[in-house]
Amino acid sequence: MKKYFPVYVRVPLLFSIFFFAMEFFIDSGDKPAFVKYPIVILILFLFLFVLIAMEIVLKATNNILNSLLTEEQRKQKEIEDNLPFTQTPFYQNLMQKLVRSRKIEEEDELIMDHDYDGIKELDNVLPPWWVYLFYGCIAFAFIYLVRFHILGHDDQTTEFEKEMAEAKIAVEEYKKTAPDVMDKEKVTLLTDAADLAAGKAIFETNCVACHRADAGGAIGPNLTDNQWILGGGVKNVFNTIMEGGRAGKGMVSWKEIIKPSDIQKVASYVLSLQGTNPADAKAPEGEVWEEPAN
Ligand code: HEC
Repeated sequence: MKKYFPVYVRVPLLFSIFFFAMEFFIDSGDKPAFVKYPIVILILFLFLFVLIAMEIVLKATNNILNSLLTEEQRKQKEIEDNLPFTQTPFYQNLMQKLVRSRKIEEEDELIMDHDYDGIKELDNVLPPWWVYLFYGCIAFAFIYLVRFHILGHDDQTTEFEKEMAEAKIAVEEYKKTAPDVMDKEKVTLLTDAADLAAGKAIFETNCVACHRADAGGAIGPNLTDNQWILGGGVKNVFNTIMEGGRAGKGMVSWKEIIKPSDIQKVASYVLSLQGTNPADAKAPEGEVWEEPAN
């Protein structure tokens, strides 16, 4: 055996098995266990230390045992050590345990007493590898039955749906508190239909009372012409909605009520109405706005 698992394979192998077993069984959330619990590192080191100590002790006892062997036995051992793997006692024993086959010379004891036109049958035992697999299946089926059909644990689809729903809530939660980075300097005109539709919805809830549904103007000025009191272009319009109009005129600051990124949408929507020329709109007010060339 030792030949196939020399010390430099054996120790790392056992160590990794132990390591992954710990990772698997310790519930440490989204971080690896050894990061979350420093004690795990300590235990791993301890385990490594034990492994190395065991190797040293093994080596020493082996040396002592070897020195006690006679010349004859030593030669015998050398032969055994150099056997191909399938002929080692370890492998042979393992196979015997797994299949429990009987030698051909012992078939007399196994033969069953019926005879079908010369065809006879041997009463071999079921091979243990098969029997254990079968027991394993029964145990699995039983646990499965109890978990999913009696206790009603979630199946994979439900698990998936639950996790997706949780993630959705988390995303919404995050969006609520995430800093909204839109400001006067960064704001750009949106042209995407979905953004404009969102802008329209915001306009209809908050702005129509003073600007009219077609933005032709009532208490507030006409927003569809090319004249602006407070400046045209997306940056100025965004700024007007964010900060409000001149004091006492009625146009409040909306930044506490509407998120800046939504104000960008409603500003883009307002600008998309340029030149729509609604019926009996308010007369233009302010200066004609020319987009600065840059
Ligand atoms: C309470 C009435 C009222 C509401 C509600 C209102 N506004 Fe105004 N709005 C005004 C008034 C009045 C002015 C003119 C401000 C001034 O003269 O300084 C104005 C000015 C504006 C201007 C600048 C027009 C220009 O010529 O420079 C824009 C753009 C604007 N509003 C957009 C909106 C948007 C978008 C909403 C909805 C989020 C909104 N307003 C809601 C009354 C209102």
